[in-house]
Amino acid sequence: MLADNNNNQSTSVLFACSELTPWVKTGGLADVCGSLPRALQRAGDDIRLILPGYKNVLDQIEPPVFVAQLDLPLHPVALCSATLYGMEVLLVTHPTFSNRDGNPYMSDDDRAWPDNAWRFALFSQAVIAVGQNRAGLNWRPDVVHCHDWQTGLVPALMSLEPERPATVFTIHNLAYQGNILHKLYADMGLPIELFNENGLEFWGQASFIKGGIAFADRVNTVSPTYSQEIKTPRFGNGMDGMLRYRGERVSGILNGIDHSIWDPAIDGHIPHNYDIDSLNLKSRNKLELQQRLSLPKDADKPVFGVISRLAVQKGIDILVNAVRQTEHLDYQLVVLGSGDTELQNQLMRLTHDYPDRVAVRIGFDEALSRLIEAGSDIFLMPSRYEPCGLNQLYSLRYGTLPLTTRVGGLADTVLDADEHGDKANGFLIEQPGAPQLANGMARALERYTDKPAWRKLQQTGMSETYSWDESAHRYRQLYQAAIGDAALEYEARRVRA
Ligand code: ADP
Ligand code: GLC
Repeated sequence: MLADNNNNQSTSVLFACSELTPWVKTGGLADVCGSLPRALQRAGDDIRLILPGYKNVLDQIEPPVFVAQLDLPLHPVALCSATLYGMEVLLVTHPTFSNRDGNPYMSDDDRAWPDNAWRFALFSQAVIAVGQNRAGLNWRPDVVHCHDWQTGLVPALMSLEPERPATVFTIHNLAYQGNILHKLYADMGLPIELFNENGLEFWGQASFIKGGIAFADRVNTVSPTYSQEIKTPRFGNGMDGMLRYRGERVSGILNGIDHSIWDPAIDGHIPHNYDIDSLNLKSRNKLELQQRLSLPKDADKPVFGVISRLAVQKGIDILVNAVRQTEHLDYQLVVLGSGDTELQNQLMRLTHDYPDRVAVRIGFDEALSRLIEAGSDIFLMPSRYEPCGLNQLYSLRYGTLPLTTRVGGLADTVLDADEHGDKANGFLIEQPGAPQLANGMARALERYTDKPAWRKLQQTGMSETYSWDESAHRYRQLYQAAIGDAALEYEARRVRA
């Protein structure tokens, strides 16, 4: 348990991430890294971010200021500086980041960059140089806060430093692990003393994410339920043993949403703004959505919406089968997604088989995603697992009722209409499966016909805040706990020496 002390102390934090809204986004990680630091800053912390200097980031911003050349063990890099929301963002600039199109992890034709392990090992070495005050910035953070496998080496490598800041590692998704052959690890010259079963070794490979889990002073995930689930074999992706071993050091903090971006009253991407008192305007967005996606225009027709990475995690195959099992029901479905080619094909076959019912757009499209949030009635997330999930939170905010699996952060945020009376805000299915989803869709459509009951569910969801300030408060407690743990470890080492 974390002490709920009155935490007015200012902490200096180096926030290390591989995605950052509004500059570079493939999923929710970017939104978290764009919002949480601002909330921490509002609370009084001294925050600097560090991000790879990707080509499309450098293209979007004023020329960044050169700060230093870092002669890292893997390769020299240029450290540059830019500003976002009044915070300094350090950009680790190297041709493997700054000379490539595509997204942080893949080329435009959806192939993972073959040198991803090397690139993020290099990035991690830059994070350590800054964290250890070896970058000439005359700044040493109290905490280095790392996110996902791309920064997992940071806590591991830092554990070898005689003196170091505290480390916090946040797991946004345990399925992406950054596992590499032992030979590749050794060829990079990374420390062999970290390669053992209590360290980076994972079934004979070296695992970057295990570095974060095993070595960070504190580990957290992005919802309380996922923090428990990952300690079980079903959700642990092979890391459950180590996560159980870390025990109380592993906790869950629910993500928030950024109300300056996700609010139907001010969202500049939607044609008709509305709020809890003008919900009747929402259906105008539905008409726009139907027009834009060439579906029959009908404000009374219930519309299911999906915005998703097309990945096994998200249950897109389940969705496809559930649509085929609900032919007898009357609804429309709009899907926006990018990712797995086979899932794209399955979705495109649906549009072919149900042209007046299903519309699919493949690609990453921020503006369309807002129109789907605003124009749909029900948002589908039949996820097999979900560390937190942001889209159900955005949907609640837009008066679009989520229908989700009872897993992870979805279980923590969606309260079923048939179970929770006045507190209900959506619909849950117990297991990720097509019959369950088809049944949930039928249940939601049935409820949709009861307009007053529907309106009540919408209003309940829209009045929930999920503010980042609340989550930032918990992160600040976590930072203090990590600082305490690091100090104890330092003291123990000193006594042993
Ligand atoms: P995950 O991070 O696992 O993909 P989340 O629900 O946490 O899932 O966050 C996904 C974020 O990415 C949301 O902001 C969602 O709107 C956005 N997103 C996902 N796919 C697309 C897409 N094809 N176009 C636009 N935004 C998308
Ligand atoms: C991951 C998870 C998602 C979570 C997001 C932000 O991508 O899949 O559930 O909301 O990270 O933490």
